[in-house]
Amino acid sequence: MRSIIESIYPEKERKLFTDREIELALLDRNTQRILEGSGENICFIGLRRVGKSLTLKHYIFRLDNDQVFAVYMDFERLDTTPEFFAVQYAGQILRWFMNDENLAPYLDISTLVKKTADFKSKVASDTIYAFFDELNKARPNQRLMLELAFDFPEKFAKEQNINIMLFLDEFQRLKEIDNFPQIRDVLGLFRSVLQTQSKTHYVVAGSAIRMLERIFQESDSPLFAQFKVERVSFFEKKASFELASKITNSQNPGVMEMIYKLSSGHPYYIYSICQRMNEIGEININGARKAFALEALLRNGSINLMCKYVFESSMGRVRGEALLKTIIRVLAKEDGKKISEISKAIRRKEGTTRNMLERLCDIDLIVKEDKLYYFRDPVLRYWIMNVYEGVEFDALPGKKVLEDMVRDIEEIFQK
Ligand SMILES: Nc1ncnc2c1ncn2[C@@H]1O[C@H](COP(=O)(O)OP(=O)(O)OP(=O)(O)O)[C@@H](O)[C@H]1O
Ligand SMILES: [Mg+2]
Repeated sequence: MRSIIESIYPEKERKLFTDREIELALLDRNTQRILEGSGENICFIGLRRVGKSLTLKHYIFRLDNDQVFAVYMDFERLDTTPEFFAVQYAGQILRWFMNDENLAPYLDISTLVKKTADFKSKVASDTIYAFFDELNKARPNQRLMLELAFDFPEKFAKEQNINIMLFLDEFQRLKEIDNFPQIRDVLGLFRSVLQTQSKTHYVVAGSAIRMLERIFQESDSPLFAQFKVERVSFFEKKASFELASKITNSQNPGVMEMIYKLSSGHPYYIYSICQRMNEIGEININGARKAFALEALLRNGSINLMCKYVFESSMGRVRGEALLKTIIRVLAKEDGKKISEISKAIRRKEGTTRNMLERLCDIDLIVKEDKLYYFRDPVLRYWIMNVYEGVEFDALPGKKVLEDMVRDIEEIFQK
C-alpha cells in the first residue's frame, strides 16, 4: 500500500524537489530539540507558489523517526464553519494515523463515526462521539467543539505515547472561523489550548504574508511570540540553475542565467518556463524568453493563471479598489517611486496615497524599501503591464508578435 505521504507528494514532484536546505535543517534541528524536551512551533511564510507546501511535504517524507508522528493538513481543504472544522481537524489526525489515502471519509461525522471502530483508541472514540452528540443538538456548542478538536492531538499523543507534529498549511484560514458569533477569537482559543500541550508541536505555513506576520509578530495577537517565523524566499542562483537543469537537461550557463533573470528565482516560474521550453523545443536564451512570454500571456499559460489568481484574490480582500488599481497601474509602468511621486500621478493628497499604499502592502502586492515602493514580484508587474491592460493571447501568436514580445521582455528584464 502506498503511504499517505506518497499520495499527497508523488514521485514526480519528489524527483524535482530542489534545495530548501535551510528550512529542512531548521526542521531537523527542531525535531531533535522536541525529543530533548525543548523545540519550538514554527511558521513558514512566503509568497504564493514559492514552495512552502512542498517543503513541508518533503520534510514529512524524509522524516524517519518513530517517536514523532507527522500529520499534514491543508486548511484550504477544510470547512471553516466551526463545528465542521472541528470534526475535520480531528478527522485528519485520525486519517494520518490510519495512513489512509482517502480524504473524504475523515471530513464527515457520519463516516468518521463508522471509522472509529477501527481506531482502537478510547480518546478517539470519546472525541468523535462527543462531536456526534453535539451535532445532534438543535444548537451545537461550537466553542466546545473547537476546544475538543484543538485538544484532541494532545490527548491522543498521550494515549498512544507519541509526539505529534501537526503541519498546518494555509494556517491563516483559521481566522475565518471568527466570522461566527459564538467564537470571535479563535486564535485566543487555540492559544489557550496550545499552552497546556507538551506532546503536540506545530509547523504551520501560509501565503498571506502580512496577515501571518500580524498573527505571530504583533503584540496584541494571542499567538504573539508563540511561533518562530521563517521566510521561504525565492531561490538563489545556484538552486535556480539546479531546478532548471533538472527540467530542461541543459547546463548552458547563458540559458540558466536567463531563466534565473526572468523568474527572479521563483521556483514555480522556473518550472513553468522550463516546461514550456521543452514543449517548444528551444533550449536556448531566446527560447527562455519566448517560453516566459507564452506562459505569462497565453490565456491558459500557467504564469498568467497564477498572476490572475493572485491579483484577483488579493484585490478582493481590500476596500477602495478603483484607486488602488490606478496606483498599481502607475507602479507597473515604473516602480521604485516615492509617495510624493505617486500622489502626483494619481492626483491625491499624500495622506490618502499613503493609506492606499499601506493597503497594497497589506495584501502583499507592494513592498516599501527605503521610502520607495516596488512590486513584491517583478513577474506580477510584467503581467499587469500586459494582461491587465488587455494584451493576452488565445492561441500561439504569430512569429512577428512573438518576436515583439521577446524584445519587450529583453528590455524589461535587462537589469
Ligand atoms: N523546492 C522546490 N523544488 C522544485 N520545485 C518547486 C520547489 N518549490 C516549489 N516548486 C514548484 O512550485 C510549485 C508550487 O509549490 P508549492 O505548492 O509547494 O508552493 P506553495 O508555496 O505551497 O504555494 P501556495 O501558496 O499556492 O500554497 C510546485 O508545484 C513546483 O512546481
Ligand atoms: Mg501551499
